[in-house]
Parts: sequence; structure tokens; C-alpha cells
Amino acid sequence: MNHVISTKQFLDRKVLDAFLALALDSEGMRASYVGGRIMASLFYEPSTRTRFSFEAAMLRLGGQVISSDHAGSFSSAIKGETLEDSIRIISGDGGINRYADIIVLRHPEAGAAERAASVSGVPLINAGDGDGEHPTQALLDIYTIKKELGRIDNLHVCLAGDLKYGRTVHSLIHLLAAGKNNRVTLAFPEPLDLPDDYRNVLVDHGMYLGETYDLEDALRDNPDVVYMTRVQKERFDSKALYDDVRNAFVFDEPLLSCLDQNAILMHPLPRVNEIAPEVDTDPRAAYFRQAQNGLPVRIALLRMLLLGGK
Ligand code: NCD
Repeated sequence: MNHVISTKQFLDRKVLDAFLALALDSEGMRASYVGGRIMASLFYEPSTRTRFSFEAAMLRLGGQVISSDHAGSFSSAIKGETLEDSIRIISGDGGINRYADIIVLRHPEAGAAERAASVSGVPLINAGDGDGEHPTQALLDIYTIKKELGRIDNLHVCLAGDLKYGRTVHSLIHLLAAGKNNRVTLAFPEPLDLPDDYRNVLVDHGMYLGETYDLEDALRDNPDVVYMTRVQKERFDSKALYDDVRNAFVFDEPLLSCLDQNAILMHPLPRVNEIAPEVDTDPRAAYFRQAQNGLPVRIALLRMLLLGGK
């Protein structure tokens, strides 16, 4: 794999299993494997977990990091430079005068990572492209499911919240499709329905179980995983529409009693109001453990792209 742009690249179960094994092997890793190499993190949108865990992963591997965390306003983008030109400069043609050996890009436009990869002389990782995909988050999500429940097959997963703009859900759907016999219930406030491209993946793989506008209703069938998402405020054209749906789904303490004892509650974070803080201490609340898994998974991504999986 040269670049990581979409979880479609992991639809082949052998590829996904090999990656999950590499992530497991990366737990707690501290090694000078990539000494002398530089990762450029280029973020045109805000981030806490994704950028820090990628940068920490590179440093844990003995590499170095150059970073632009407000790339939209602090890079030459503000002067009108295209994304393609910026990537060409950072990666060069991959030759000895390149600025960086790998690029991690977050950008507000869906498709931006693919455009950037097409001109990049070094591996490029999509760290979120608008309302498109967020493949590295989904890889840590599926890794979390494997760690918590011991399997990525025969699962009933409830995807809940902003399924329209939530890119982590879009990416997770391909990985659930790589498993066997997984089923998915969709729970969303009416205007935030899953786009057809992703709905078709569920239908084509025989995974689509049903949909509801009511979160409690979605729990009746005892899902193994409830995956909550934030309403993606920054993608809305209308503040009034955002205000209408922002608090539509809140997972609070009473809902915990509807959740199966062996189920887990996940969220890519940041949460706003979607999960009440009193839920945090329940052992089924897996979202903080999920965020910690960002490190081994991103170490594994760097090992895969820089070291051929060694
Ligand atoms: C997600 C994102 O950026 O899409 N955040 C993350 O990387 N963990 C989810 C979100 O912002 O709601």
C-alpha cells in the first residue's frame, strides 16, 4: 500500500487481519525503527487526538515531525497556493531533497486526500477529508471492537447520530463489511441520513438490518456495539437546522439500562452532548479506551507505509 485514503483498501479480510496483527504488535512500542525520517502533519481542520497520536506515534518510533496545525491560515494556502502545489513541495518527487518521508493530511473537502496523493512523491495518509472518510479512525475503531469483544465477525452494530456528515461512520462501514455476518442498525435524526454510497455497501453485503429516528428503539434488538457520533456542526449550511438536531440523540443514564450487559458504547470523540458524563464510569463505556488505541494503530500505519509492515 502506498497511501491510505479509504478503508475500501482494507475490504480484503487478509489485508485487514494483517493490519490488526501489526497494531497489536505495536502496543507499547518504543523503538528507533524510523530514525532519521520525518513526518509532515498538515492539518487544515482542527484536531486533538488524530494529530497528537500520529505525532506521538512517529516520535515513539524514533522519527521526527514537522507540523502545520492551522494549515488553512498559517500555510501558503492563505496566499492562494493549491493543495497540490503544497504537497508537491513537501514531498518533492520522493528524492533526497524531499522535506518529509510521509504526509498526514486533514482537509475540509471530501476527495482532497485522493487529489493530494495523486501528486505526492511520498506516502500520504488521509486523516479526515471533509464529510468523506476518516480511515485511520475507523481502523482504531475496529481494533477497539476486536480488543473489547474478541471478534470482528457476527456483530450487531448500531451506528447512531450524524450519519450524513460523520466521516468516521463512512469509513467504519467498509471495515464491518470486511467481517463476516455483521449486521448494522442505523439510528439518526431525520435530516442526517446515511448517504446512498454507504447505504449501498450495507445492502450489497447483506448487512442492513433497519433504521430508526429513535435511539431507544435502536437498542431494543440488543446491539453488541453502539457507535455514537457528534452532530458535525461545521458541515451545516444552516444554523437553524443544526439547532434543530444538535440534541436529538443523547445517550444518558436511563438508556444504559437498555444496553446489553456485554455490549460496548463507542464514540470517536470529541463528544459534545451525545453522551452524558454520568455514563463514563460504566464499564461498557469504551470511548476513552478507544482513544488510547489511536497510538498502536497509528504506529502500525507508519510501520506499514515506511517499513513495509516490519
Ligand atoms: C472525528 C473527526 O474528525 O471526524 N474526530 C476524530 O478524529 N476523533 C469525529 C468528530 O470530529 O466528530
